Amino acid sequence: NEYTFKYSELTTTLAEPKQLRAKPDVSELKFGQIFTDHMFKVFYHKALGGWQKPEIIPFENISLHPAAKVLHYAVELFEGLKAYRGVDGKIRMFRPDLNMQRMNLSAIGSGLPTFDGSELIKCMNRLIQIDQEWVPHSEASSLYIRPTLIGVDGTLGVAQSESALLFTILCPVGAYFDDKNDSVALFADPSYTRAWPGGCGDRKMGSNYGPTIRVQRKALRKGCQQVLWLYGEDHQVTEVGTMNIFIFYVNERGERILATPPLNGLILPGVVRQSILQMAHEWGEFQIQQRTITMNEVIRLQEENRLLEMFGSGTACVVSPISSIEYLGRILPIPTMEHSKPLYNRIREQLYAIQYGHFEHPWAVPI
Ligand code: COI
Repeated sequence: NEYTFKYSELTTTLAEPKQLRAKPDVSELKFGQIFTDHMFKVFYHKALGGWQKPEIIPFENISLHPAAKVLHYAVELFEGLKAYRGVDGKIRMFRPDLNMQRMNLSAIGSGLPTFDGSELIKCMNRLIQIDQEWVPHSEASSLYIRPTLIGVDGTLGVAQSESALLFTILCPVGAYFDDKNDSVALFADPSYTRAWPGGCGDRKMGSNYGPTIRVQRKALRKGCQQVLWLYGEDHQVTEVGTMNIFIFYVNERGERILATPPLNGLILPGVVRQSILQMAHEWGEFQIQQRTITMNEVIRLQEENRLLEMFGSGTACVVSPISSIEYLGRILPIPTMEHSKPLYNRIREQLYAIQYGHFEHPWAVPI
């Protein structure tokens, strides 16, 4: 099939009882370490007419040609979304259509084949149904879903891969960060760059993430939990770790503003980012801006006591409050945790309420 694989052609092979794994205690779960009993996979072979028949199979290793392009040139992309067990027992995914749109944009950016996102959603629904006992019975936990698309041609040419493998694996997850105190100290060093104009920082490709690990290690050595990624001569604030960033402050006229960097090619178009902007817009209680934010501005707001909060947003951690930034040899305190009713917490509670089905909402889609 040239354009897409089809849910109607899905075949399922269930794991034998002896292949089933023990389910972990979710309160002790670290992010992404334990996987469920089954996985989804579908191949694309241009020479065979495109997409093949999708399959659900017992979780297993993948066998690749040693020259597979993914292994040499990082021809790969991924998504991250979650399924939640609601207070009514129903399992819901959060805005999977947005992940499917972004996955197809990433595929175009990597020369990998696109597909009909609604077909993958149906296949993932089936996978989650099969592994439904792995969706934690807890409002502090969820099932992380990792769709991945890799170029598997066994040829070393730096060229489009004519065959690909799309697979999806699932893992039950607790909180993303190990630390129980949930605010993060950031390390901002303008000598490192995550993304640049004309690059691919706005696509969810593995090649954007691997090179950040050494900087993240440096942040840890400095006693910080995450990197604040700066860009340009004016030290623009772009992202935090693997998250989008928000700043909540009071302008010179005394008005409250929620700002986040614009989708100018340097920023990953986050699903939680978009959801926060939409929610804040509906509340209509303060101004919302998508614009460039520089470190000088953050420092000035902090010095003038007009900086209220800074927080990161992402699927893994949902909302992550920021308590300080180490920048050019000094530590800038960020007063996010010093308010009695912080915005970050209101956003977080609202998202949780939607995700865990406290009320019906179009963003939480039952599987
Ligand atoms: C997120 O949801 O914040 C991520 O992108 C995390 C993932 C790269 C582990």
